[in-house]
Amino acid sequence: MGRKKTPRWLEAARLRKGPVSPGGRADWLARALGRAGVMPRTEAERAIREGRVEVGGQVEREPFAPVQPGVEVRVDGRLCELEAPLLVLMFHKPAGVIVAGKDPEGVGTVFERLRAVLPAELQGFEWYAIGRLDRDTTGLLLFTNDERVVQHGTSPETHLPKRYVAEVAGRPSEEALARLREGLVLEDGPTRPAGARLLGPEQVELVLTEGRHHQVKRMLAAVGHPVRALHRVAVGSLVLDVPVGAWRRLSASEVSVGLGFNDVRA
Ligand code: URA
Repeated sequence: MGRKKTPRWLEAARLRKGPVSPGGRADWLARALGRAGVMPRTEAERAIREGRVEVGGQVEREPFAPVQPGVEVRVDGRLCELEAPLLVLMFHKPAGVIVAGKDPEGVGTVFERLRAVLPAELQGFEWYAIGRLDRDTTGLLLFTNDERVVQHGTSPETHLPKRYVAEVAGRPSEEALARLREGLVLEDGPTRPAGARLLGPEQVELVLTEGRHHQVKRMLAAVGHPVRALHRVAVGSLVLDVPVGAWRRLSASEVSVGLGFNDVRA
C-alpha cells in the first residue's frame, strides 16, 4: 500500500529512545562527522562500523546513531570538534563531468574534480552540490558542507536567480524572447517569468528563478532554438570569477547577501 520507508536516522533514534528532532540540533553520527570536516561520510560510515568511533565514551557502530550537541566524539581515540563552520565554495564546472555521486559510465564527477584541487584541510568535509548542471553544461556550481544551504539554494520557494548564457541554433526573434520572458508551458507545467535577452546573433542570456530538469534547454527548444552549448554565469548575485576547474571559498557576506542564506546558528 505504498507505506513510506522510515529514514535510517529516525529508526536509529527511536531504537535508542533518543530525542527525535530533525529540526533541532541532534544529528546522526556519520553526517555530523562529514559536516564538521573530520572525514567524508562514506569514510565515516566505515570507521563507525569498524568500531573506531566513540560517542560519550562508548563505541558506536551505527552510522545513523543520533548525536546530541556537546557530546564527546572520538575517532581512533582522538577528540573531534563537531561544531562545524559553514562553508560554501564556488567551483567552475568543466564540460564532460556529471553532478552525481554515482558514475556508472565512468565519465567523472564534479565531486572528484573538486576534491582533486582542494587543499588537505578541506578534504575531510562531505561536499554537497547546490543544484545540478548537465554533463555538457559549464560554469558556476556551488558546494557546501551544510545541507541547509542546499535546501535553501534548490527550494522552489527561494526563487534564487540563476543566470545562463546559451549558444543556440538560429537567431531568436523578439517574439521568441518575449515568450521566454512571460513564461511558457512545458510538459511539467508553466515556467515562471524569466529574464531573456539577446547577447549575440545566436547567443541568449536567460535568468531563471526556478531550477527544473533541463529547464534552459527545454525552454529554448520550445521557442525553436535548441541549445548548442550552455554556461552558468551567476547564482543569486554571485558571479563566477574563477577559471575552469578552479574553486574559491565564499565569504560570510557572499553567503548571506549573495545567496540570501542566513545561518540561524551564527
Ligand atoms: N538548464 C539546463 O537545461 N541544463 C543545465 O545544466 C542547467 C539548466
